[in-house]
Amino acid sequence: MRVAEPLAADGALRDTTARFREAMRLIVGNVSVITAGVGEDRSGLVAISMVSLSADPPKVIVCVNRNSSTWPLIDRYRHFGVNALAAHHQEVAERFSGFGGIKGAARYDGADWVKGETGVSLLADASVSLDCRLEEMIDRGSHSIVIGAVASVRIKDAGTALTYWRGGYRGISAA
Ligand SMILES: Cc1cc2nc3c(=O)[nH]c(=O)nc-3n(C[C@H](O)[C@H](O)[C@H](O)COP(=O)(O)O)c2cc1C
Repeated sequence: MRVAEPLAADGALRDTTARFREAMRLIVGNVSVITAGVGEDRSGLVAISMVSLSADPPKVIVCVNRNSSTWPLIDRYRHFGVNALAAHHQEVAERFSGFGGIKGAARYDGADWVKGETGVSLLADASVSLDCRLEEMIDRGSHSIVIGAVASVRIKDAGTALTYWRGGYRGISAA
């Protein structure tokens, strides 16, 4: 059994980061595609940092790297979409993680999208899609904590979900 090691003292920050990465691999993540922008001026990313902030009013949080191509689009269009993926969406996830160098609007190819009321693209057969208006971005280091107010909810429950665990995508099924 591996036990927790004491937090590294000064000078050992790099080691603590490596340990943190190792630890995070063991925590199951829910896989969402975060969408933003309109037409050719679109991009998006795969995120496991999306969680509910509150149900009443409905709000979510997602942590977005400010160096990603999606961050400036969220900032400019003041919207984003949360698309919770089903088990059969692994290819969509790979496109939106920049796999194979696919960039911007080309990440949307090969799947069906509908337009939300904020103008954002929502994955037509996502388990859940949330159309969000940007409420606030709180910058912390490399990332922003992005807070969204949910304008509308779509549910297409296929009974499966896509998770990320131990460095790989894993589909799970309710059956
Ligand atoms: C499983 C998984 C989860 C990820 N979660 C996040 C996340 O929560 N926030 C984030 O900013 N990037 C996350 N990323 C990285 C982005 O998906 C990736 O950097 C982004 O698609 C690159 O986009 P860009 O080419 O537009 O910069 C994750 C990647 C993977 C594979």
